Amino acid sequence: MAREFSTVGVVGLGTMGAGIAEVFARNGIAVVGIEQSADWLERGRDHLRSSTERAVSRGKLTADAQQEILGRILLTTDTAALADADLVVEAVPERLELKQQVFGALDEVCRPDAVLATNTSSLPVTRIATGSRHPGRVLGVHFFNPATVLKLVEVVSTDHTEPGLTEDIAAFVSRLGKVPVVVGDRAGFVANALLFGYLNQAVKLTETGGVGYDDVDAAMTAGAGFPMGPFALLDLIGLDTAQEILLTMHADTGDDRHDPAASLRALVEAGRLGRKTGQGFFTYDKPGSGRRTDQAGAGSGDRAAIVETLLYPHLADALRMRDSGYATAADIDNAMRFGCGYPKGPFELIEEIGVDRVLASER
Ligand code: 3HC
Repeated sequence: MAREFSTVGVVGLGTMGAGIAEVFARNGIAVVGIEQSADWLERGRDHLRSSTERAVSRGKLTADAQQEILGRILLTTDTAALADADLVVEAVPERLELKQQVFGALDEVCRPDAVLATNTSSLPVTRIATGSRHPGRVLGVHFFNPATVLKLVEVVSTDHTEPGLTEDIAAFVSRLGKVPVVVGDRAGFVANALLFGYLNQAVKLTETGGVGYDDVDAAMTAGAGFPMGPFALLDLIGLDTAQEILLTMHADTGDDRHDPAASLRALVEAGRLGRKTGQGFFTYDKPGSGRRTDQAGAGSGDRAAIVETLLYPHLADALRMRDSGYATAADIDNAMRFGCGYPKGPFELIEEIGVDRVLASER
């Protein structure tokens, strides 16, 4: 019998943690949301309120249903409230020691049979798990932003993960209406490992190629059919998060394409972190908003050339990942379609374009 998860804790209520808490609550699950201070807890409450209000204003949720969802989420700074949780998902900032500390603290308050999961985007789950005295009950569950919209959840097992646990969590993820892709513990897993090389190359292209952010975004949306261009997407993800993921990837692969682009580093240094601060590659009407106030460029430039420069190496990376045996073509297609909203997965695109043309771009 697969395990039941009827009470779930979420530690860290930033953009991702709050989104994950909302996903559980929308599925009728009791949620305990933990933050470290009253201020951070208020910020988490605001995320939950504005996200559900947005759904109400769009006619997707009634006001009563919104209250029911919010009523299922207990918000507190007291980790003792996790004592009854069947599963706890950690979503604190991407610092290894911090995450290890959280897992150590969870050992103290959680039931011995509770499952402990990390939403890390790129840190090794195996190393995070060493924070717990029971690494067998630790695994990764990696959601995608916006968590309420995107269906992918990467379920990441380590060499220590207890047999059967990954399957139980994957079944639970399916019951939430999400699409689980089960993978081993490797930097960036499937989606981020493929996505961030491409995003970084897009930034580098604007540093050297005489093309602007809007040119590239227009090429990748209108020309390649992606739901967002790389610059709008980087601003959504957060430039600090993007830089952290790239640094982890770079340390792991040594590949220059993962060395964060100079203009990305400069924006992070300047505190322009994307939508969350109101400024990133683009400027927004207020922090947290996706409404641009800067003058969008015409998005001209040679779209076909831009697409070839960025898309083909991205697809070649997918081929290499499949050939390495890390993930199947079907898992890679699912990851990019359900995690990044691609209308077609990389292998569906390769089928259309032709593998020779894709690989020729690298010579
Ligand atoms: N937060 C919450 N919900 C949002 C949202 C946001 N920022 N933006 C849009 N939505 C919701 C809308 O409310 C709407 O919901 P509804 O269908 O229930 O009404 C739905 O998304 C569609 O919104 P729109 O019609 O306004 O906009 P689009 O159709 O253009 O879709 C998008 C917006 C879903 C963001 C789409 O552009 C997309 O899929 N973009 C790609 C995002 C992506 O690649 N994310 C992955 C990033 S990598 C990651 O998260 C990994 C991590 O480790 C960094």
